Amino acid sequence: MKVRRISASDTYQIRHAVLAPHLPLEAVKFLNDDDEDMSFHLGAFIDGKLVSVASFFYEKHPEFSDLHQYQLRGMATLPEFEKKGLSSELLNVAFPIIKQNFCTLVWCNARKSAVGFYEKVGFIKADKSEFEIQDIGPHFLMFKKLTDAF
Ligand SMILES: CC(C)(COP(=O)(O)OP(=O)(O)OC[C@H]1O[C@@H](n2cnc3c(N)ncnc32)[C@H](O)[C@@H]1OP(=O)(O)O)[C@@H](O)C(=O)NCCC(=O)NCCS
Repeated sequence: MKVRRISASDTYQIRHAVLAPHLPLEAVKFLNDDDEDMSFHLGAFIDGKLVSVASFFYEKHPEFSDLHQYQLRGMATLPEFEKKGLSSELLNVAFPIIKQNFCTLVWCNARKSAVGFYEKVGFIKADKSEFEIQDIGPHFLMFKKLTDAF
C-alpha cells in the first residue's frame, strides 16, 4: 500500500460511490477542494489502484478555541478494502502535516455509523448531541487534539 497526495478531482469517484451514491456528483465537491492553500487530499493505493481517500481543510469550528484547526472530510474506503488499516494510515500521514502547519486540532462531522472508527484513531465526541445532516443521516461532532505525541 502506498499513500500519495492526490487532487480533489481524484477523490470524487470514491467519495460519490461510498459516501453519497444517492446524490448527484456535485454533492461530493466541497468548498475549497481545489484551493491548495486551504486543503490537501491523500489517497491510499493498492497495486496502483486508488482505494481510500481523505481530505483536510483549514477550517475553524466555533465549538473549539484552538486558533488553527483542520476539518477532516470525505473519509472513504471502497467496501472491499475496508478494515485493512487504510484510513488509519491516511490519518497517520496527515496528522504530522497538519501539526507542521501549527494546527493543534482536527475535527469532523462523524457519521453515527463511523463513530467507532474515529474513536479507534483517537477522536473524541465533542458532546453527546446527535445532529442530522440533510440527505446523509445522523452525525456527531468529534475532535482530536494534535498536541499529543504520535
Ligand atoms: C469508516 C471508514 C472510512 C473506515 O475506513 P477503513 O479503511 O476500513 O478503516 P481502518 O481499516 O483504518 O480501521 C481502523 C480501525 O477502526 C475499525 N473500524 C473501521 N470502521 C469502523 C466502524 N464503522 N465502526 C467501528 N470500528 C471501525 C477497524 O476495524 C480498525 O480497528 P482495529 O485497529 O482494531 O483493526 C470506512 O469504513 C468507510 O468508508 N465507511 C463508509 C463511509 C463513511 O462512513 N465514512 C466516514 C464519514 S464521516
